[in-house]
Amino acid sequence: MSDNNKALTRWHSACGKVILFGEHAVVYGVPAIAGGIQHAMRARLVPSAPKEIRVSIPKWSVDVCQGEHRPGTELFEAYLAFLLDKFQLSSRGFCLELEPTITHASGLGASAAVAVASIRALADYAERPLSDEDINTLAFGCEKIAHGSPSGLDNTLATFGGIQLYQRTGEQAQCSALQLTKPLRLVVALSGKQGFTAATVERVAMARAAQPQKYDAIFESIGNITARAGNALRHGELTEVAELMTENQMHLRALGVSCDEIEHVISLAMSQGALGAKLTGSGDGGAVIIAPGTSEEKVLATLRNAGVQCFTITLGDEP
Ligand code: PMV
Repeated sequence: MSDNNKALTRWHSACGKVILFGEHAVVYGVPAIAGGIQHAMRARLVPSAPKEIRVSIPKWSVDVCQGEHRPGTELFEAYLAFLLDKFQLSSRGFCLELEPTITHASGLGASAAVAVASIRALADYAERPLSDEDINTLAFGCEKIAHGSPSGLDNTLATFGGIQLYQRTGEQAQCSALQLTKPLRLVVALSGKQGFTAATVERVAMARAAQPQKYDAIFESIGNITARAGNALRHGELTEVAELMTENQMHLRALGVSCDEIEHVISLAMSQGALGAKLTGSGDGGAVIIAPGTSEEKVLATLRNAGVQCFTITLGDEP
């Protein structure tokens, strides 16, 4: 290894996430359930030219220096500026190198995972030990830069992983880990269209402002589904969990955040015997989660034949 490639910090990791129940409604104080995707992101610092500070994410073709402005890297420039200020590291030279295993703009919590893995690497370099609570708070600051008024769900899952029941009311966030009696196997499929969280959340906010009763009734229905799903997950009633996913999707359609690409993936999966499916994240693109039941092989084969990128995750099997 040449001197230039020697790591200044160890690798530090963060989770991605799938929202099982309650996206959008969670922004309005309704509980949501989400599961962490392990090993979604890792970050470390490696040496760079003196006083040069860079962010490099080769897999996403991101390579940008502090102070530079490039189309498509605005988010990373903003995160870097925010975190360098927090850690008082602006005068030193290094490259913050990130390795994702998930795609961005797909509803899988990539931006929060970038924030959490970066914070862990920078804190290590700055010799500033941080608790997970501190990391989560800083990552929430990054999420505000990315999404305006986020619920805080993504940074919480990126930091703590596991399966969390999450609720935000005003400034207060409550989060409790759900213990599953049976692991939940899911297929995660990319719709092929990018999702843009801030824009979709804003669209829902405007629609709600115009018709508050209609939208609040939808959020309330989603809240009921989330409550039933929490019980079903605790008791290992996974067929019911899958059916509740489909029910949640009906309400997401009514919110106007589904799209043809998402519906196409869902109908392909259901035609192969999947037990339930819904979009995950902000929607209007991004990813779909599918409970395949005993049809996992058929679902995966059919999706892949149709050119849909997909992978499997198992929630609730962490040691
Ligand atoms: O698209 P994502 O992965 O950032 O998820 C957004 C989830 C929302 O509920 C739509 C917004 C939020 O801040 O919780």
